[in-house]
Amino acid sequence: MKRIRRSFVAIGVFMWLMSCGNTSVNESAVEWKSYSGDPAIERKVDSVLSLMTLEEKIGQLNQYSGNFAVTGEVANTRSGEYLKKGMIGSTFNVFGADHVRMLQEQNLKYSRLKIPMLFAADVIHGLETTFPIPLAEACSWDLQLMEKSARIAAEEATASGVAWNFAPMVDISRDPRWGRIMEGAGEDVYLGSLIARARVRGFQGIDSYKDFSKPNTMMACAKHFVGYGAAQAGRDYHTVDISNRSLHETYLPPFKAAVDEGVASFMTAFNELDGVPCTGNKYIFQDILRHQWNFNGMVVTDYTAIQEMVAHGFAKDLKQASKLAMDAGIDMDMISEGFVTYLKELVEEGQVSEKQIDVAVARILEMKFLLGLFDDPYKYCDAEREKEVLMNPQHLQAAREVAQRSIVLLKYDPNVLPLRKEVPKRVALIGPFVKERESLNGEWAIKGDRSKSVTLWEGLQDKYNNTPVKFNYAKGTSLPVIDGATRQVSTAQGFDRSGFAEAVRIARSSDLILVAMGENFNWSGEAASRTDITLPGNQRELLKELKKTGKPIVLILFNGRPLDLSWEAENVDAIVEAWYPGIMAGHAVADVLSGDYNPSARLVVTFPRNVGQIPIFYNMKNTGRPFDENHPADYRSSYIDSPNSPLFPFGFGLSYTTFKYENVKICDTKLRRGETLTVSVDVKNIGNRDGEEVVQLYMRDKVGSVTRPVKELKGFKKIFLKKGETQTVQFTINEELLKMYNIDMEWVAEPGEFDVWVAKNSADESNHLEFELVD
Ligand code: BGC
Repeated sequence: MKRIRRSFVAIGVFMWLMSCGNTSVNESAVEWKSYSGDPAIERKVDSVLSLMTLEEKIGQLNQYSGNFAVTGEVANTRSGEYLKKGMIGSTFNVFGADHVRMLQEQNLKYSRLKIPMLFAADVIHGLETTFPIPLAEACSWDLQLMEKSARIAAEEATASGVAWNFAPMVDISRDPRWGRIMEGAGEDVYLGSLIARARVRGFQGIDSYKDFSKPNTMMACAKHFVGYGAAQAGRDYHTVDISNRSLHETYLPPFKAAVDEGVASFMTAFNELDGVPCTGNKYIFQDILRHQWNFNGMVVTDYTAIQEMVAHGFAKDLKQASKLAMDAGIDMDMISEGFVTYLKELVEEGQVSEKQIDVAVARILEMKFLLGLFDDPYKYCDAEREKEVLMNPQHLQAAREVAQRSIVLLKYDPNVLPLRKEVPKRVALIGPFVKERESLNGEWAIKGDRSKSVTLWEGLQDKYNNTPVKFNYAKGTSLPVIDGATRQVSTAQGFDRSGFAEAVRIARSSDLILVAMGENFNWSGEAASRTDITLPGNQRELLKELKKTGKPIVLILFNGRPLDLSWEAENVDAIVEAWYPGIMAGHAVADVLSGDYNPSARLVVTFPRNVGQIPIFYNMKNTGRPFDENHPADYRSSYIDSPNSPLFPFGFGLSYTTFKYENVKICDTKLRRGETLTVSVDVKNIGNRDGEEVVQLYMRDKVGSVTRPVKELKGFKKIFLKKGETQTVQFTINEELLKMYNIDMEWVAEPGEFDVWVAKNSADESNHLEFELVD
């Protein structure tokens, strides 16, 4: 390997810039720099590589799926055949210490050089202990908590055979129509980048930099590189057409953050970018990832993404697609069988060099060495540990805590919530989610046992057992489902009104109605885009009937995306956004409803009033004709049939207590480069119970060499205050925080005036300050 590095180091940047054609071998890509930077590991990689035949090398680049999650057209897999030739580098979504051990044994039996297979999986929000979906967790604004849940996921996965996690998904998304919005950290770049780091830290669990030697450490994977969240019209896998500026300002930063945190791998995105499918995109993989960011880990394609370059109209066949992927610097082919089928031929024809293959193999071998798989191929197959850790009581308790902290209180009337345990009440429990179990884990919990999740019904029975609060249940209506074959909503279910009468009868004889509604779990997630984001089926119709009873209504929502709740927000008395809370769902929601846990989550994504406002996000541009909703005027950037403002803004969420901000101040009105300013605020809990507040810092760069958003999140602190307690919260502003891509795409802080808001959410402008950056 040293030989390879030496011979190509000299080619340097000039050759790199010159290599733009897709027809010849891209020599500039032929340079292996190790991820670990550890010469001992590099020597080991070199020595194994030098013994390998071309076929054996190509086999290392080949990845197959197990049986658990099939998320695309399964290619005509010849996995059995390749296994027997020792030509499978990695398999994903197979679980279980014993099962993985058995597969590894098979592999080693056939692998001439005894090269261990690398087992990967989508452990997106927990393995068996299912945590809330990532979007929900992000609403906790609690980075330590997210790191902890990722760690627990990794503890379980690594005991169950898995050494490589296809997570975190760090795609910024601003489109609730897109089902995969549930899998990310929301719409904001600053918060999304911090969450990316927290999740990488949690999954990888490495104590010292790049040390994967412990059996509970695993590789994380930042996905999907890049822009997947910007699919046109929110339709999954659709075209992405964004400017280079928004690529750099919005979509790249969480990936860069993952690199800075030491993430071991990347996954390509399905979409194209500026006309080039990401899986064959040299600009993002070579120029940005490898060269600018100096990322030396592994890159895997997404599911059949090499093959898909043919449908994109970028390659005429799988062979050409495989060459394009190699030239982009992709190391591993997930499912397409493009590399394993055509690379040999491509090498023989001189279209791909063996050195290119060596580099990809070296990256894969390095990971296998770092993970310790060469020393012990069964390191992740510890059946004893598996028994101990999977769904152990501490993990379940953590899942309950994370779920509590992910639930956003969107509206409430103190007369209806919290639902006190000591006050006698007849409560009608209505809706398809009261006893729903299967959906509570959300779509991506592929190993979470859906039969084990705690329903709302069970959570409430447990909480209010032996209290004067009495429940009466009626389902009222069902959740509409998707027909598996056509991928369309099936009208057979969820539109029938026959349960309405009973629900209304029960509601009439109650003091309070708790309604549990939402989306069936496969209505969000991959390949689950919607054009209508209201409550599915006739759930709103049922709510309208319940409303006629005149009884107070608390609406509890289980869903994977922001919904259009415009009617609900006006007509019900409280809204609890529970998302898909995971295995401890019922308990966590009961904790929040009862007030045993005082809700503290804040939205990380804007809730629009209607689907026509999408894309809508808090950090938009001002435009040349801004519209002021308090002083409407004609020929302004507005709608004639809807306000511009969202229903619930980014950063929004309520608590059962009230926080007051006082003495908001900035220590100076001028910031000199290299110096800092301090913004401070006294936050006082003036309500009747203890609680947590997320104090948010927003800024606006008033004039730039390019236009700047109306505001940007630049800091936040989550604090706990006992009732009556006051705490001073401080933020430090420095030059780094003010940096932006200027007109020449340089990352600089431009001198000039800035607005600052210390705020409860992105729409709160009550505490405004100003300062100026001076040279
Ligand atoms: C998804 C990836 C996932 C892969 C393997 C694809 O369809 O886009 O996020 O990791 O399947 O399950």
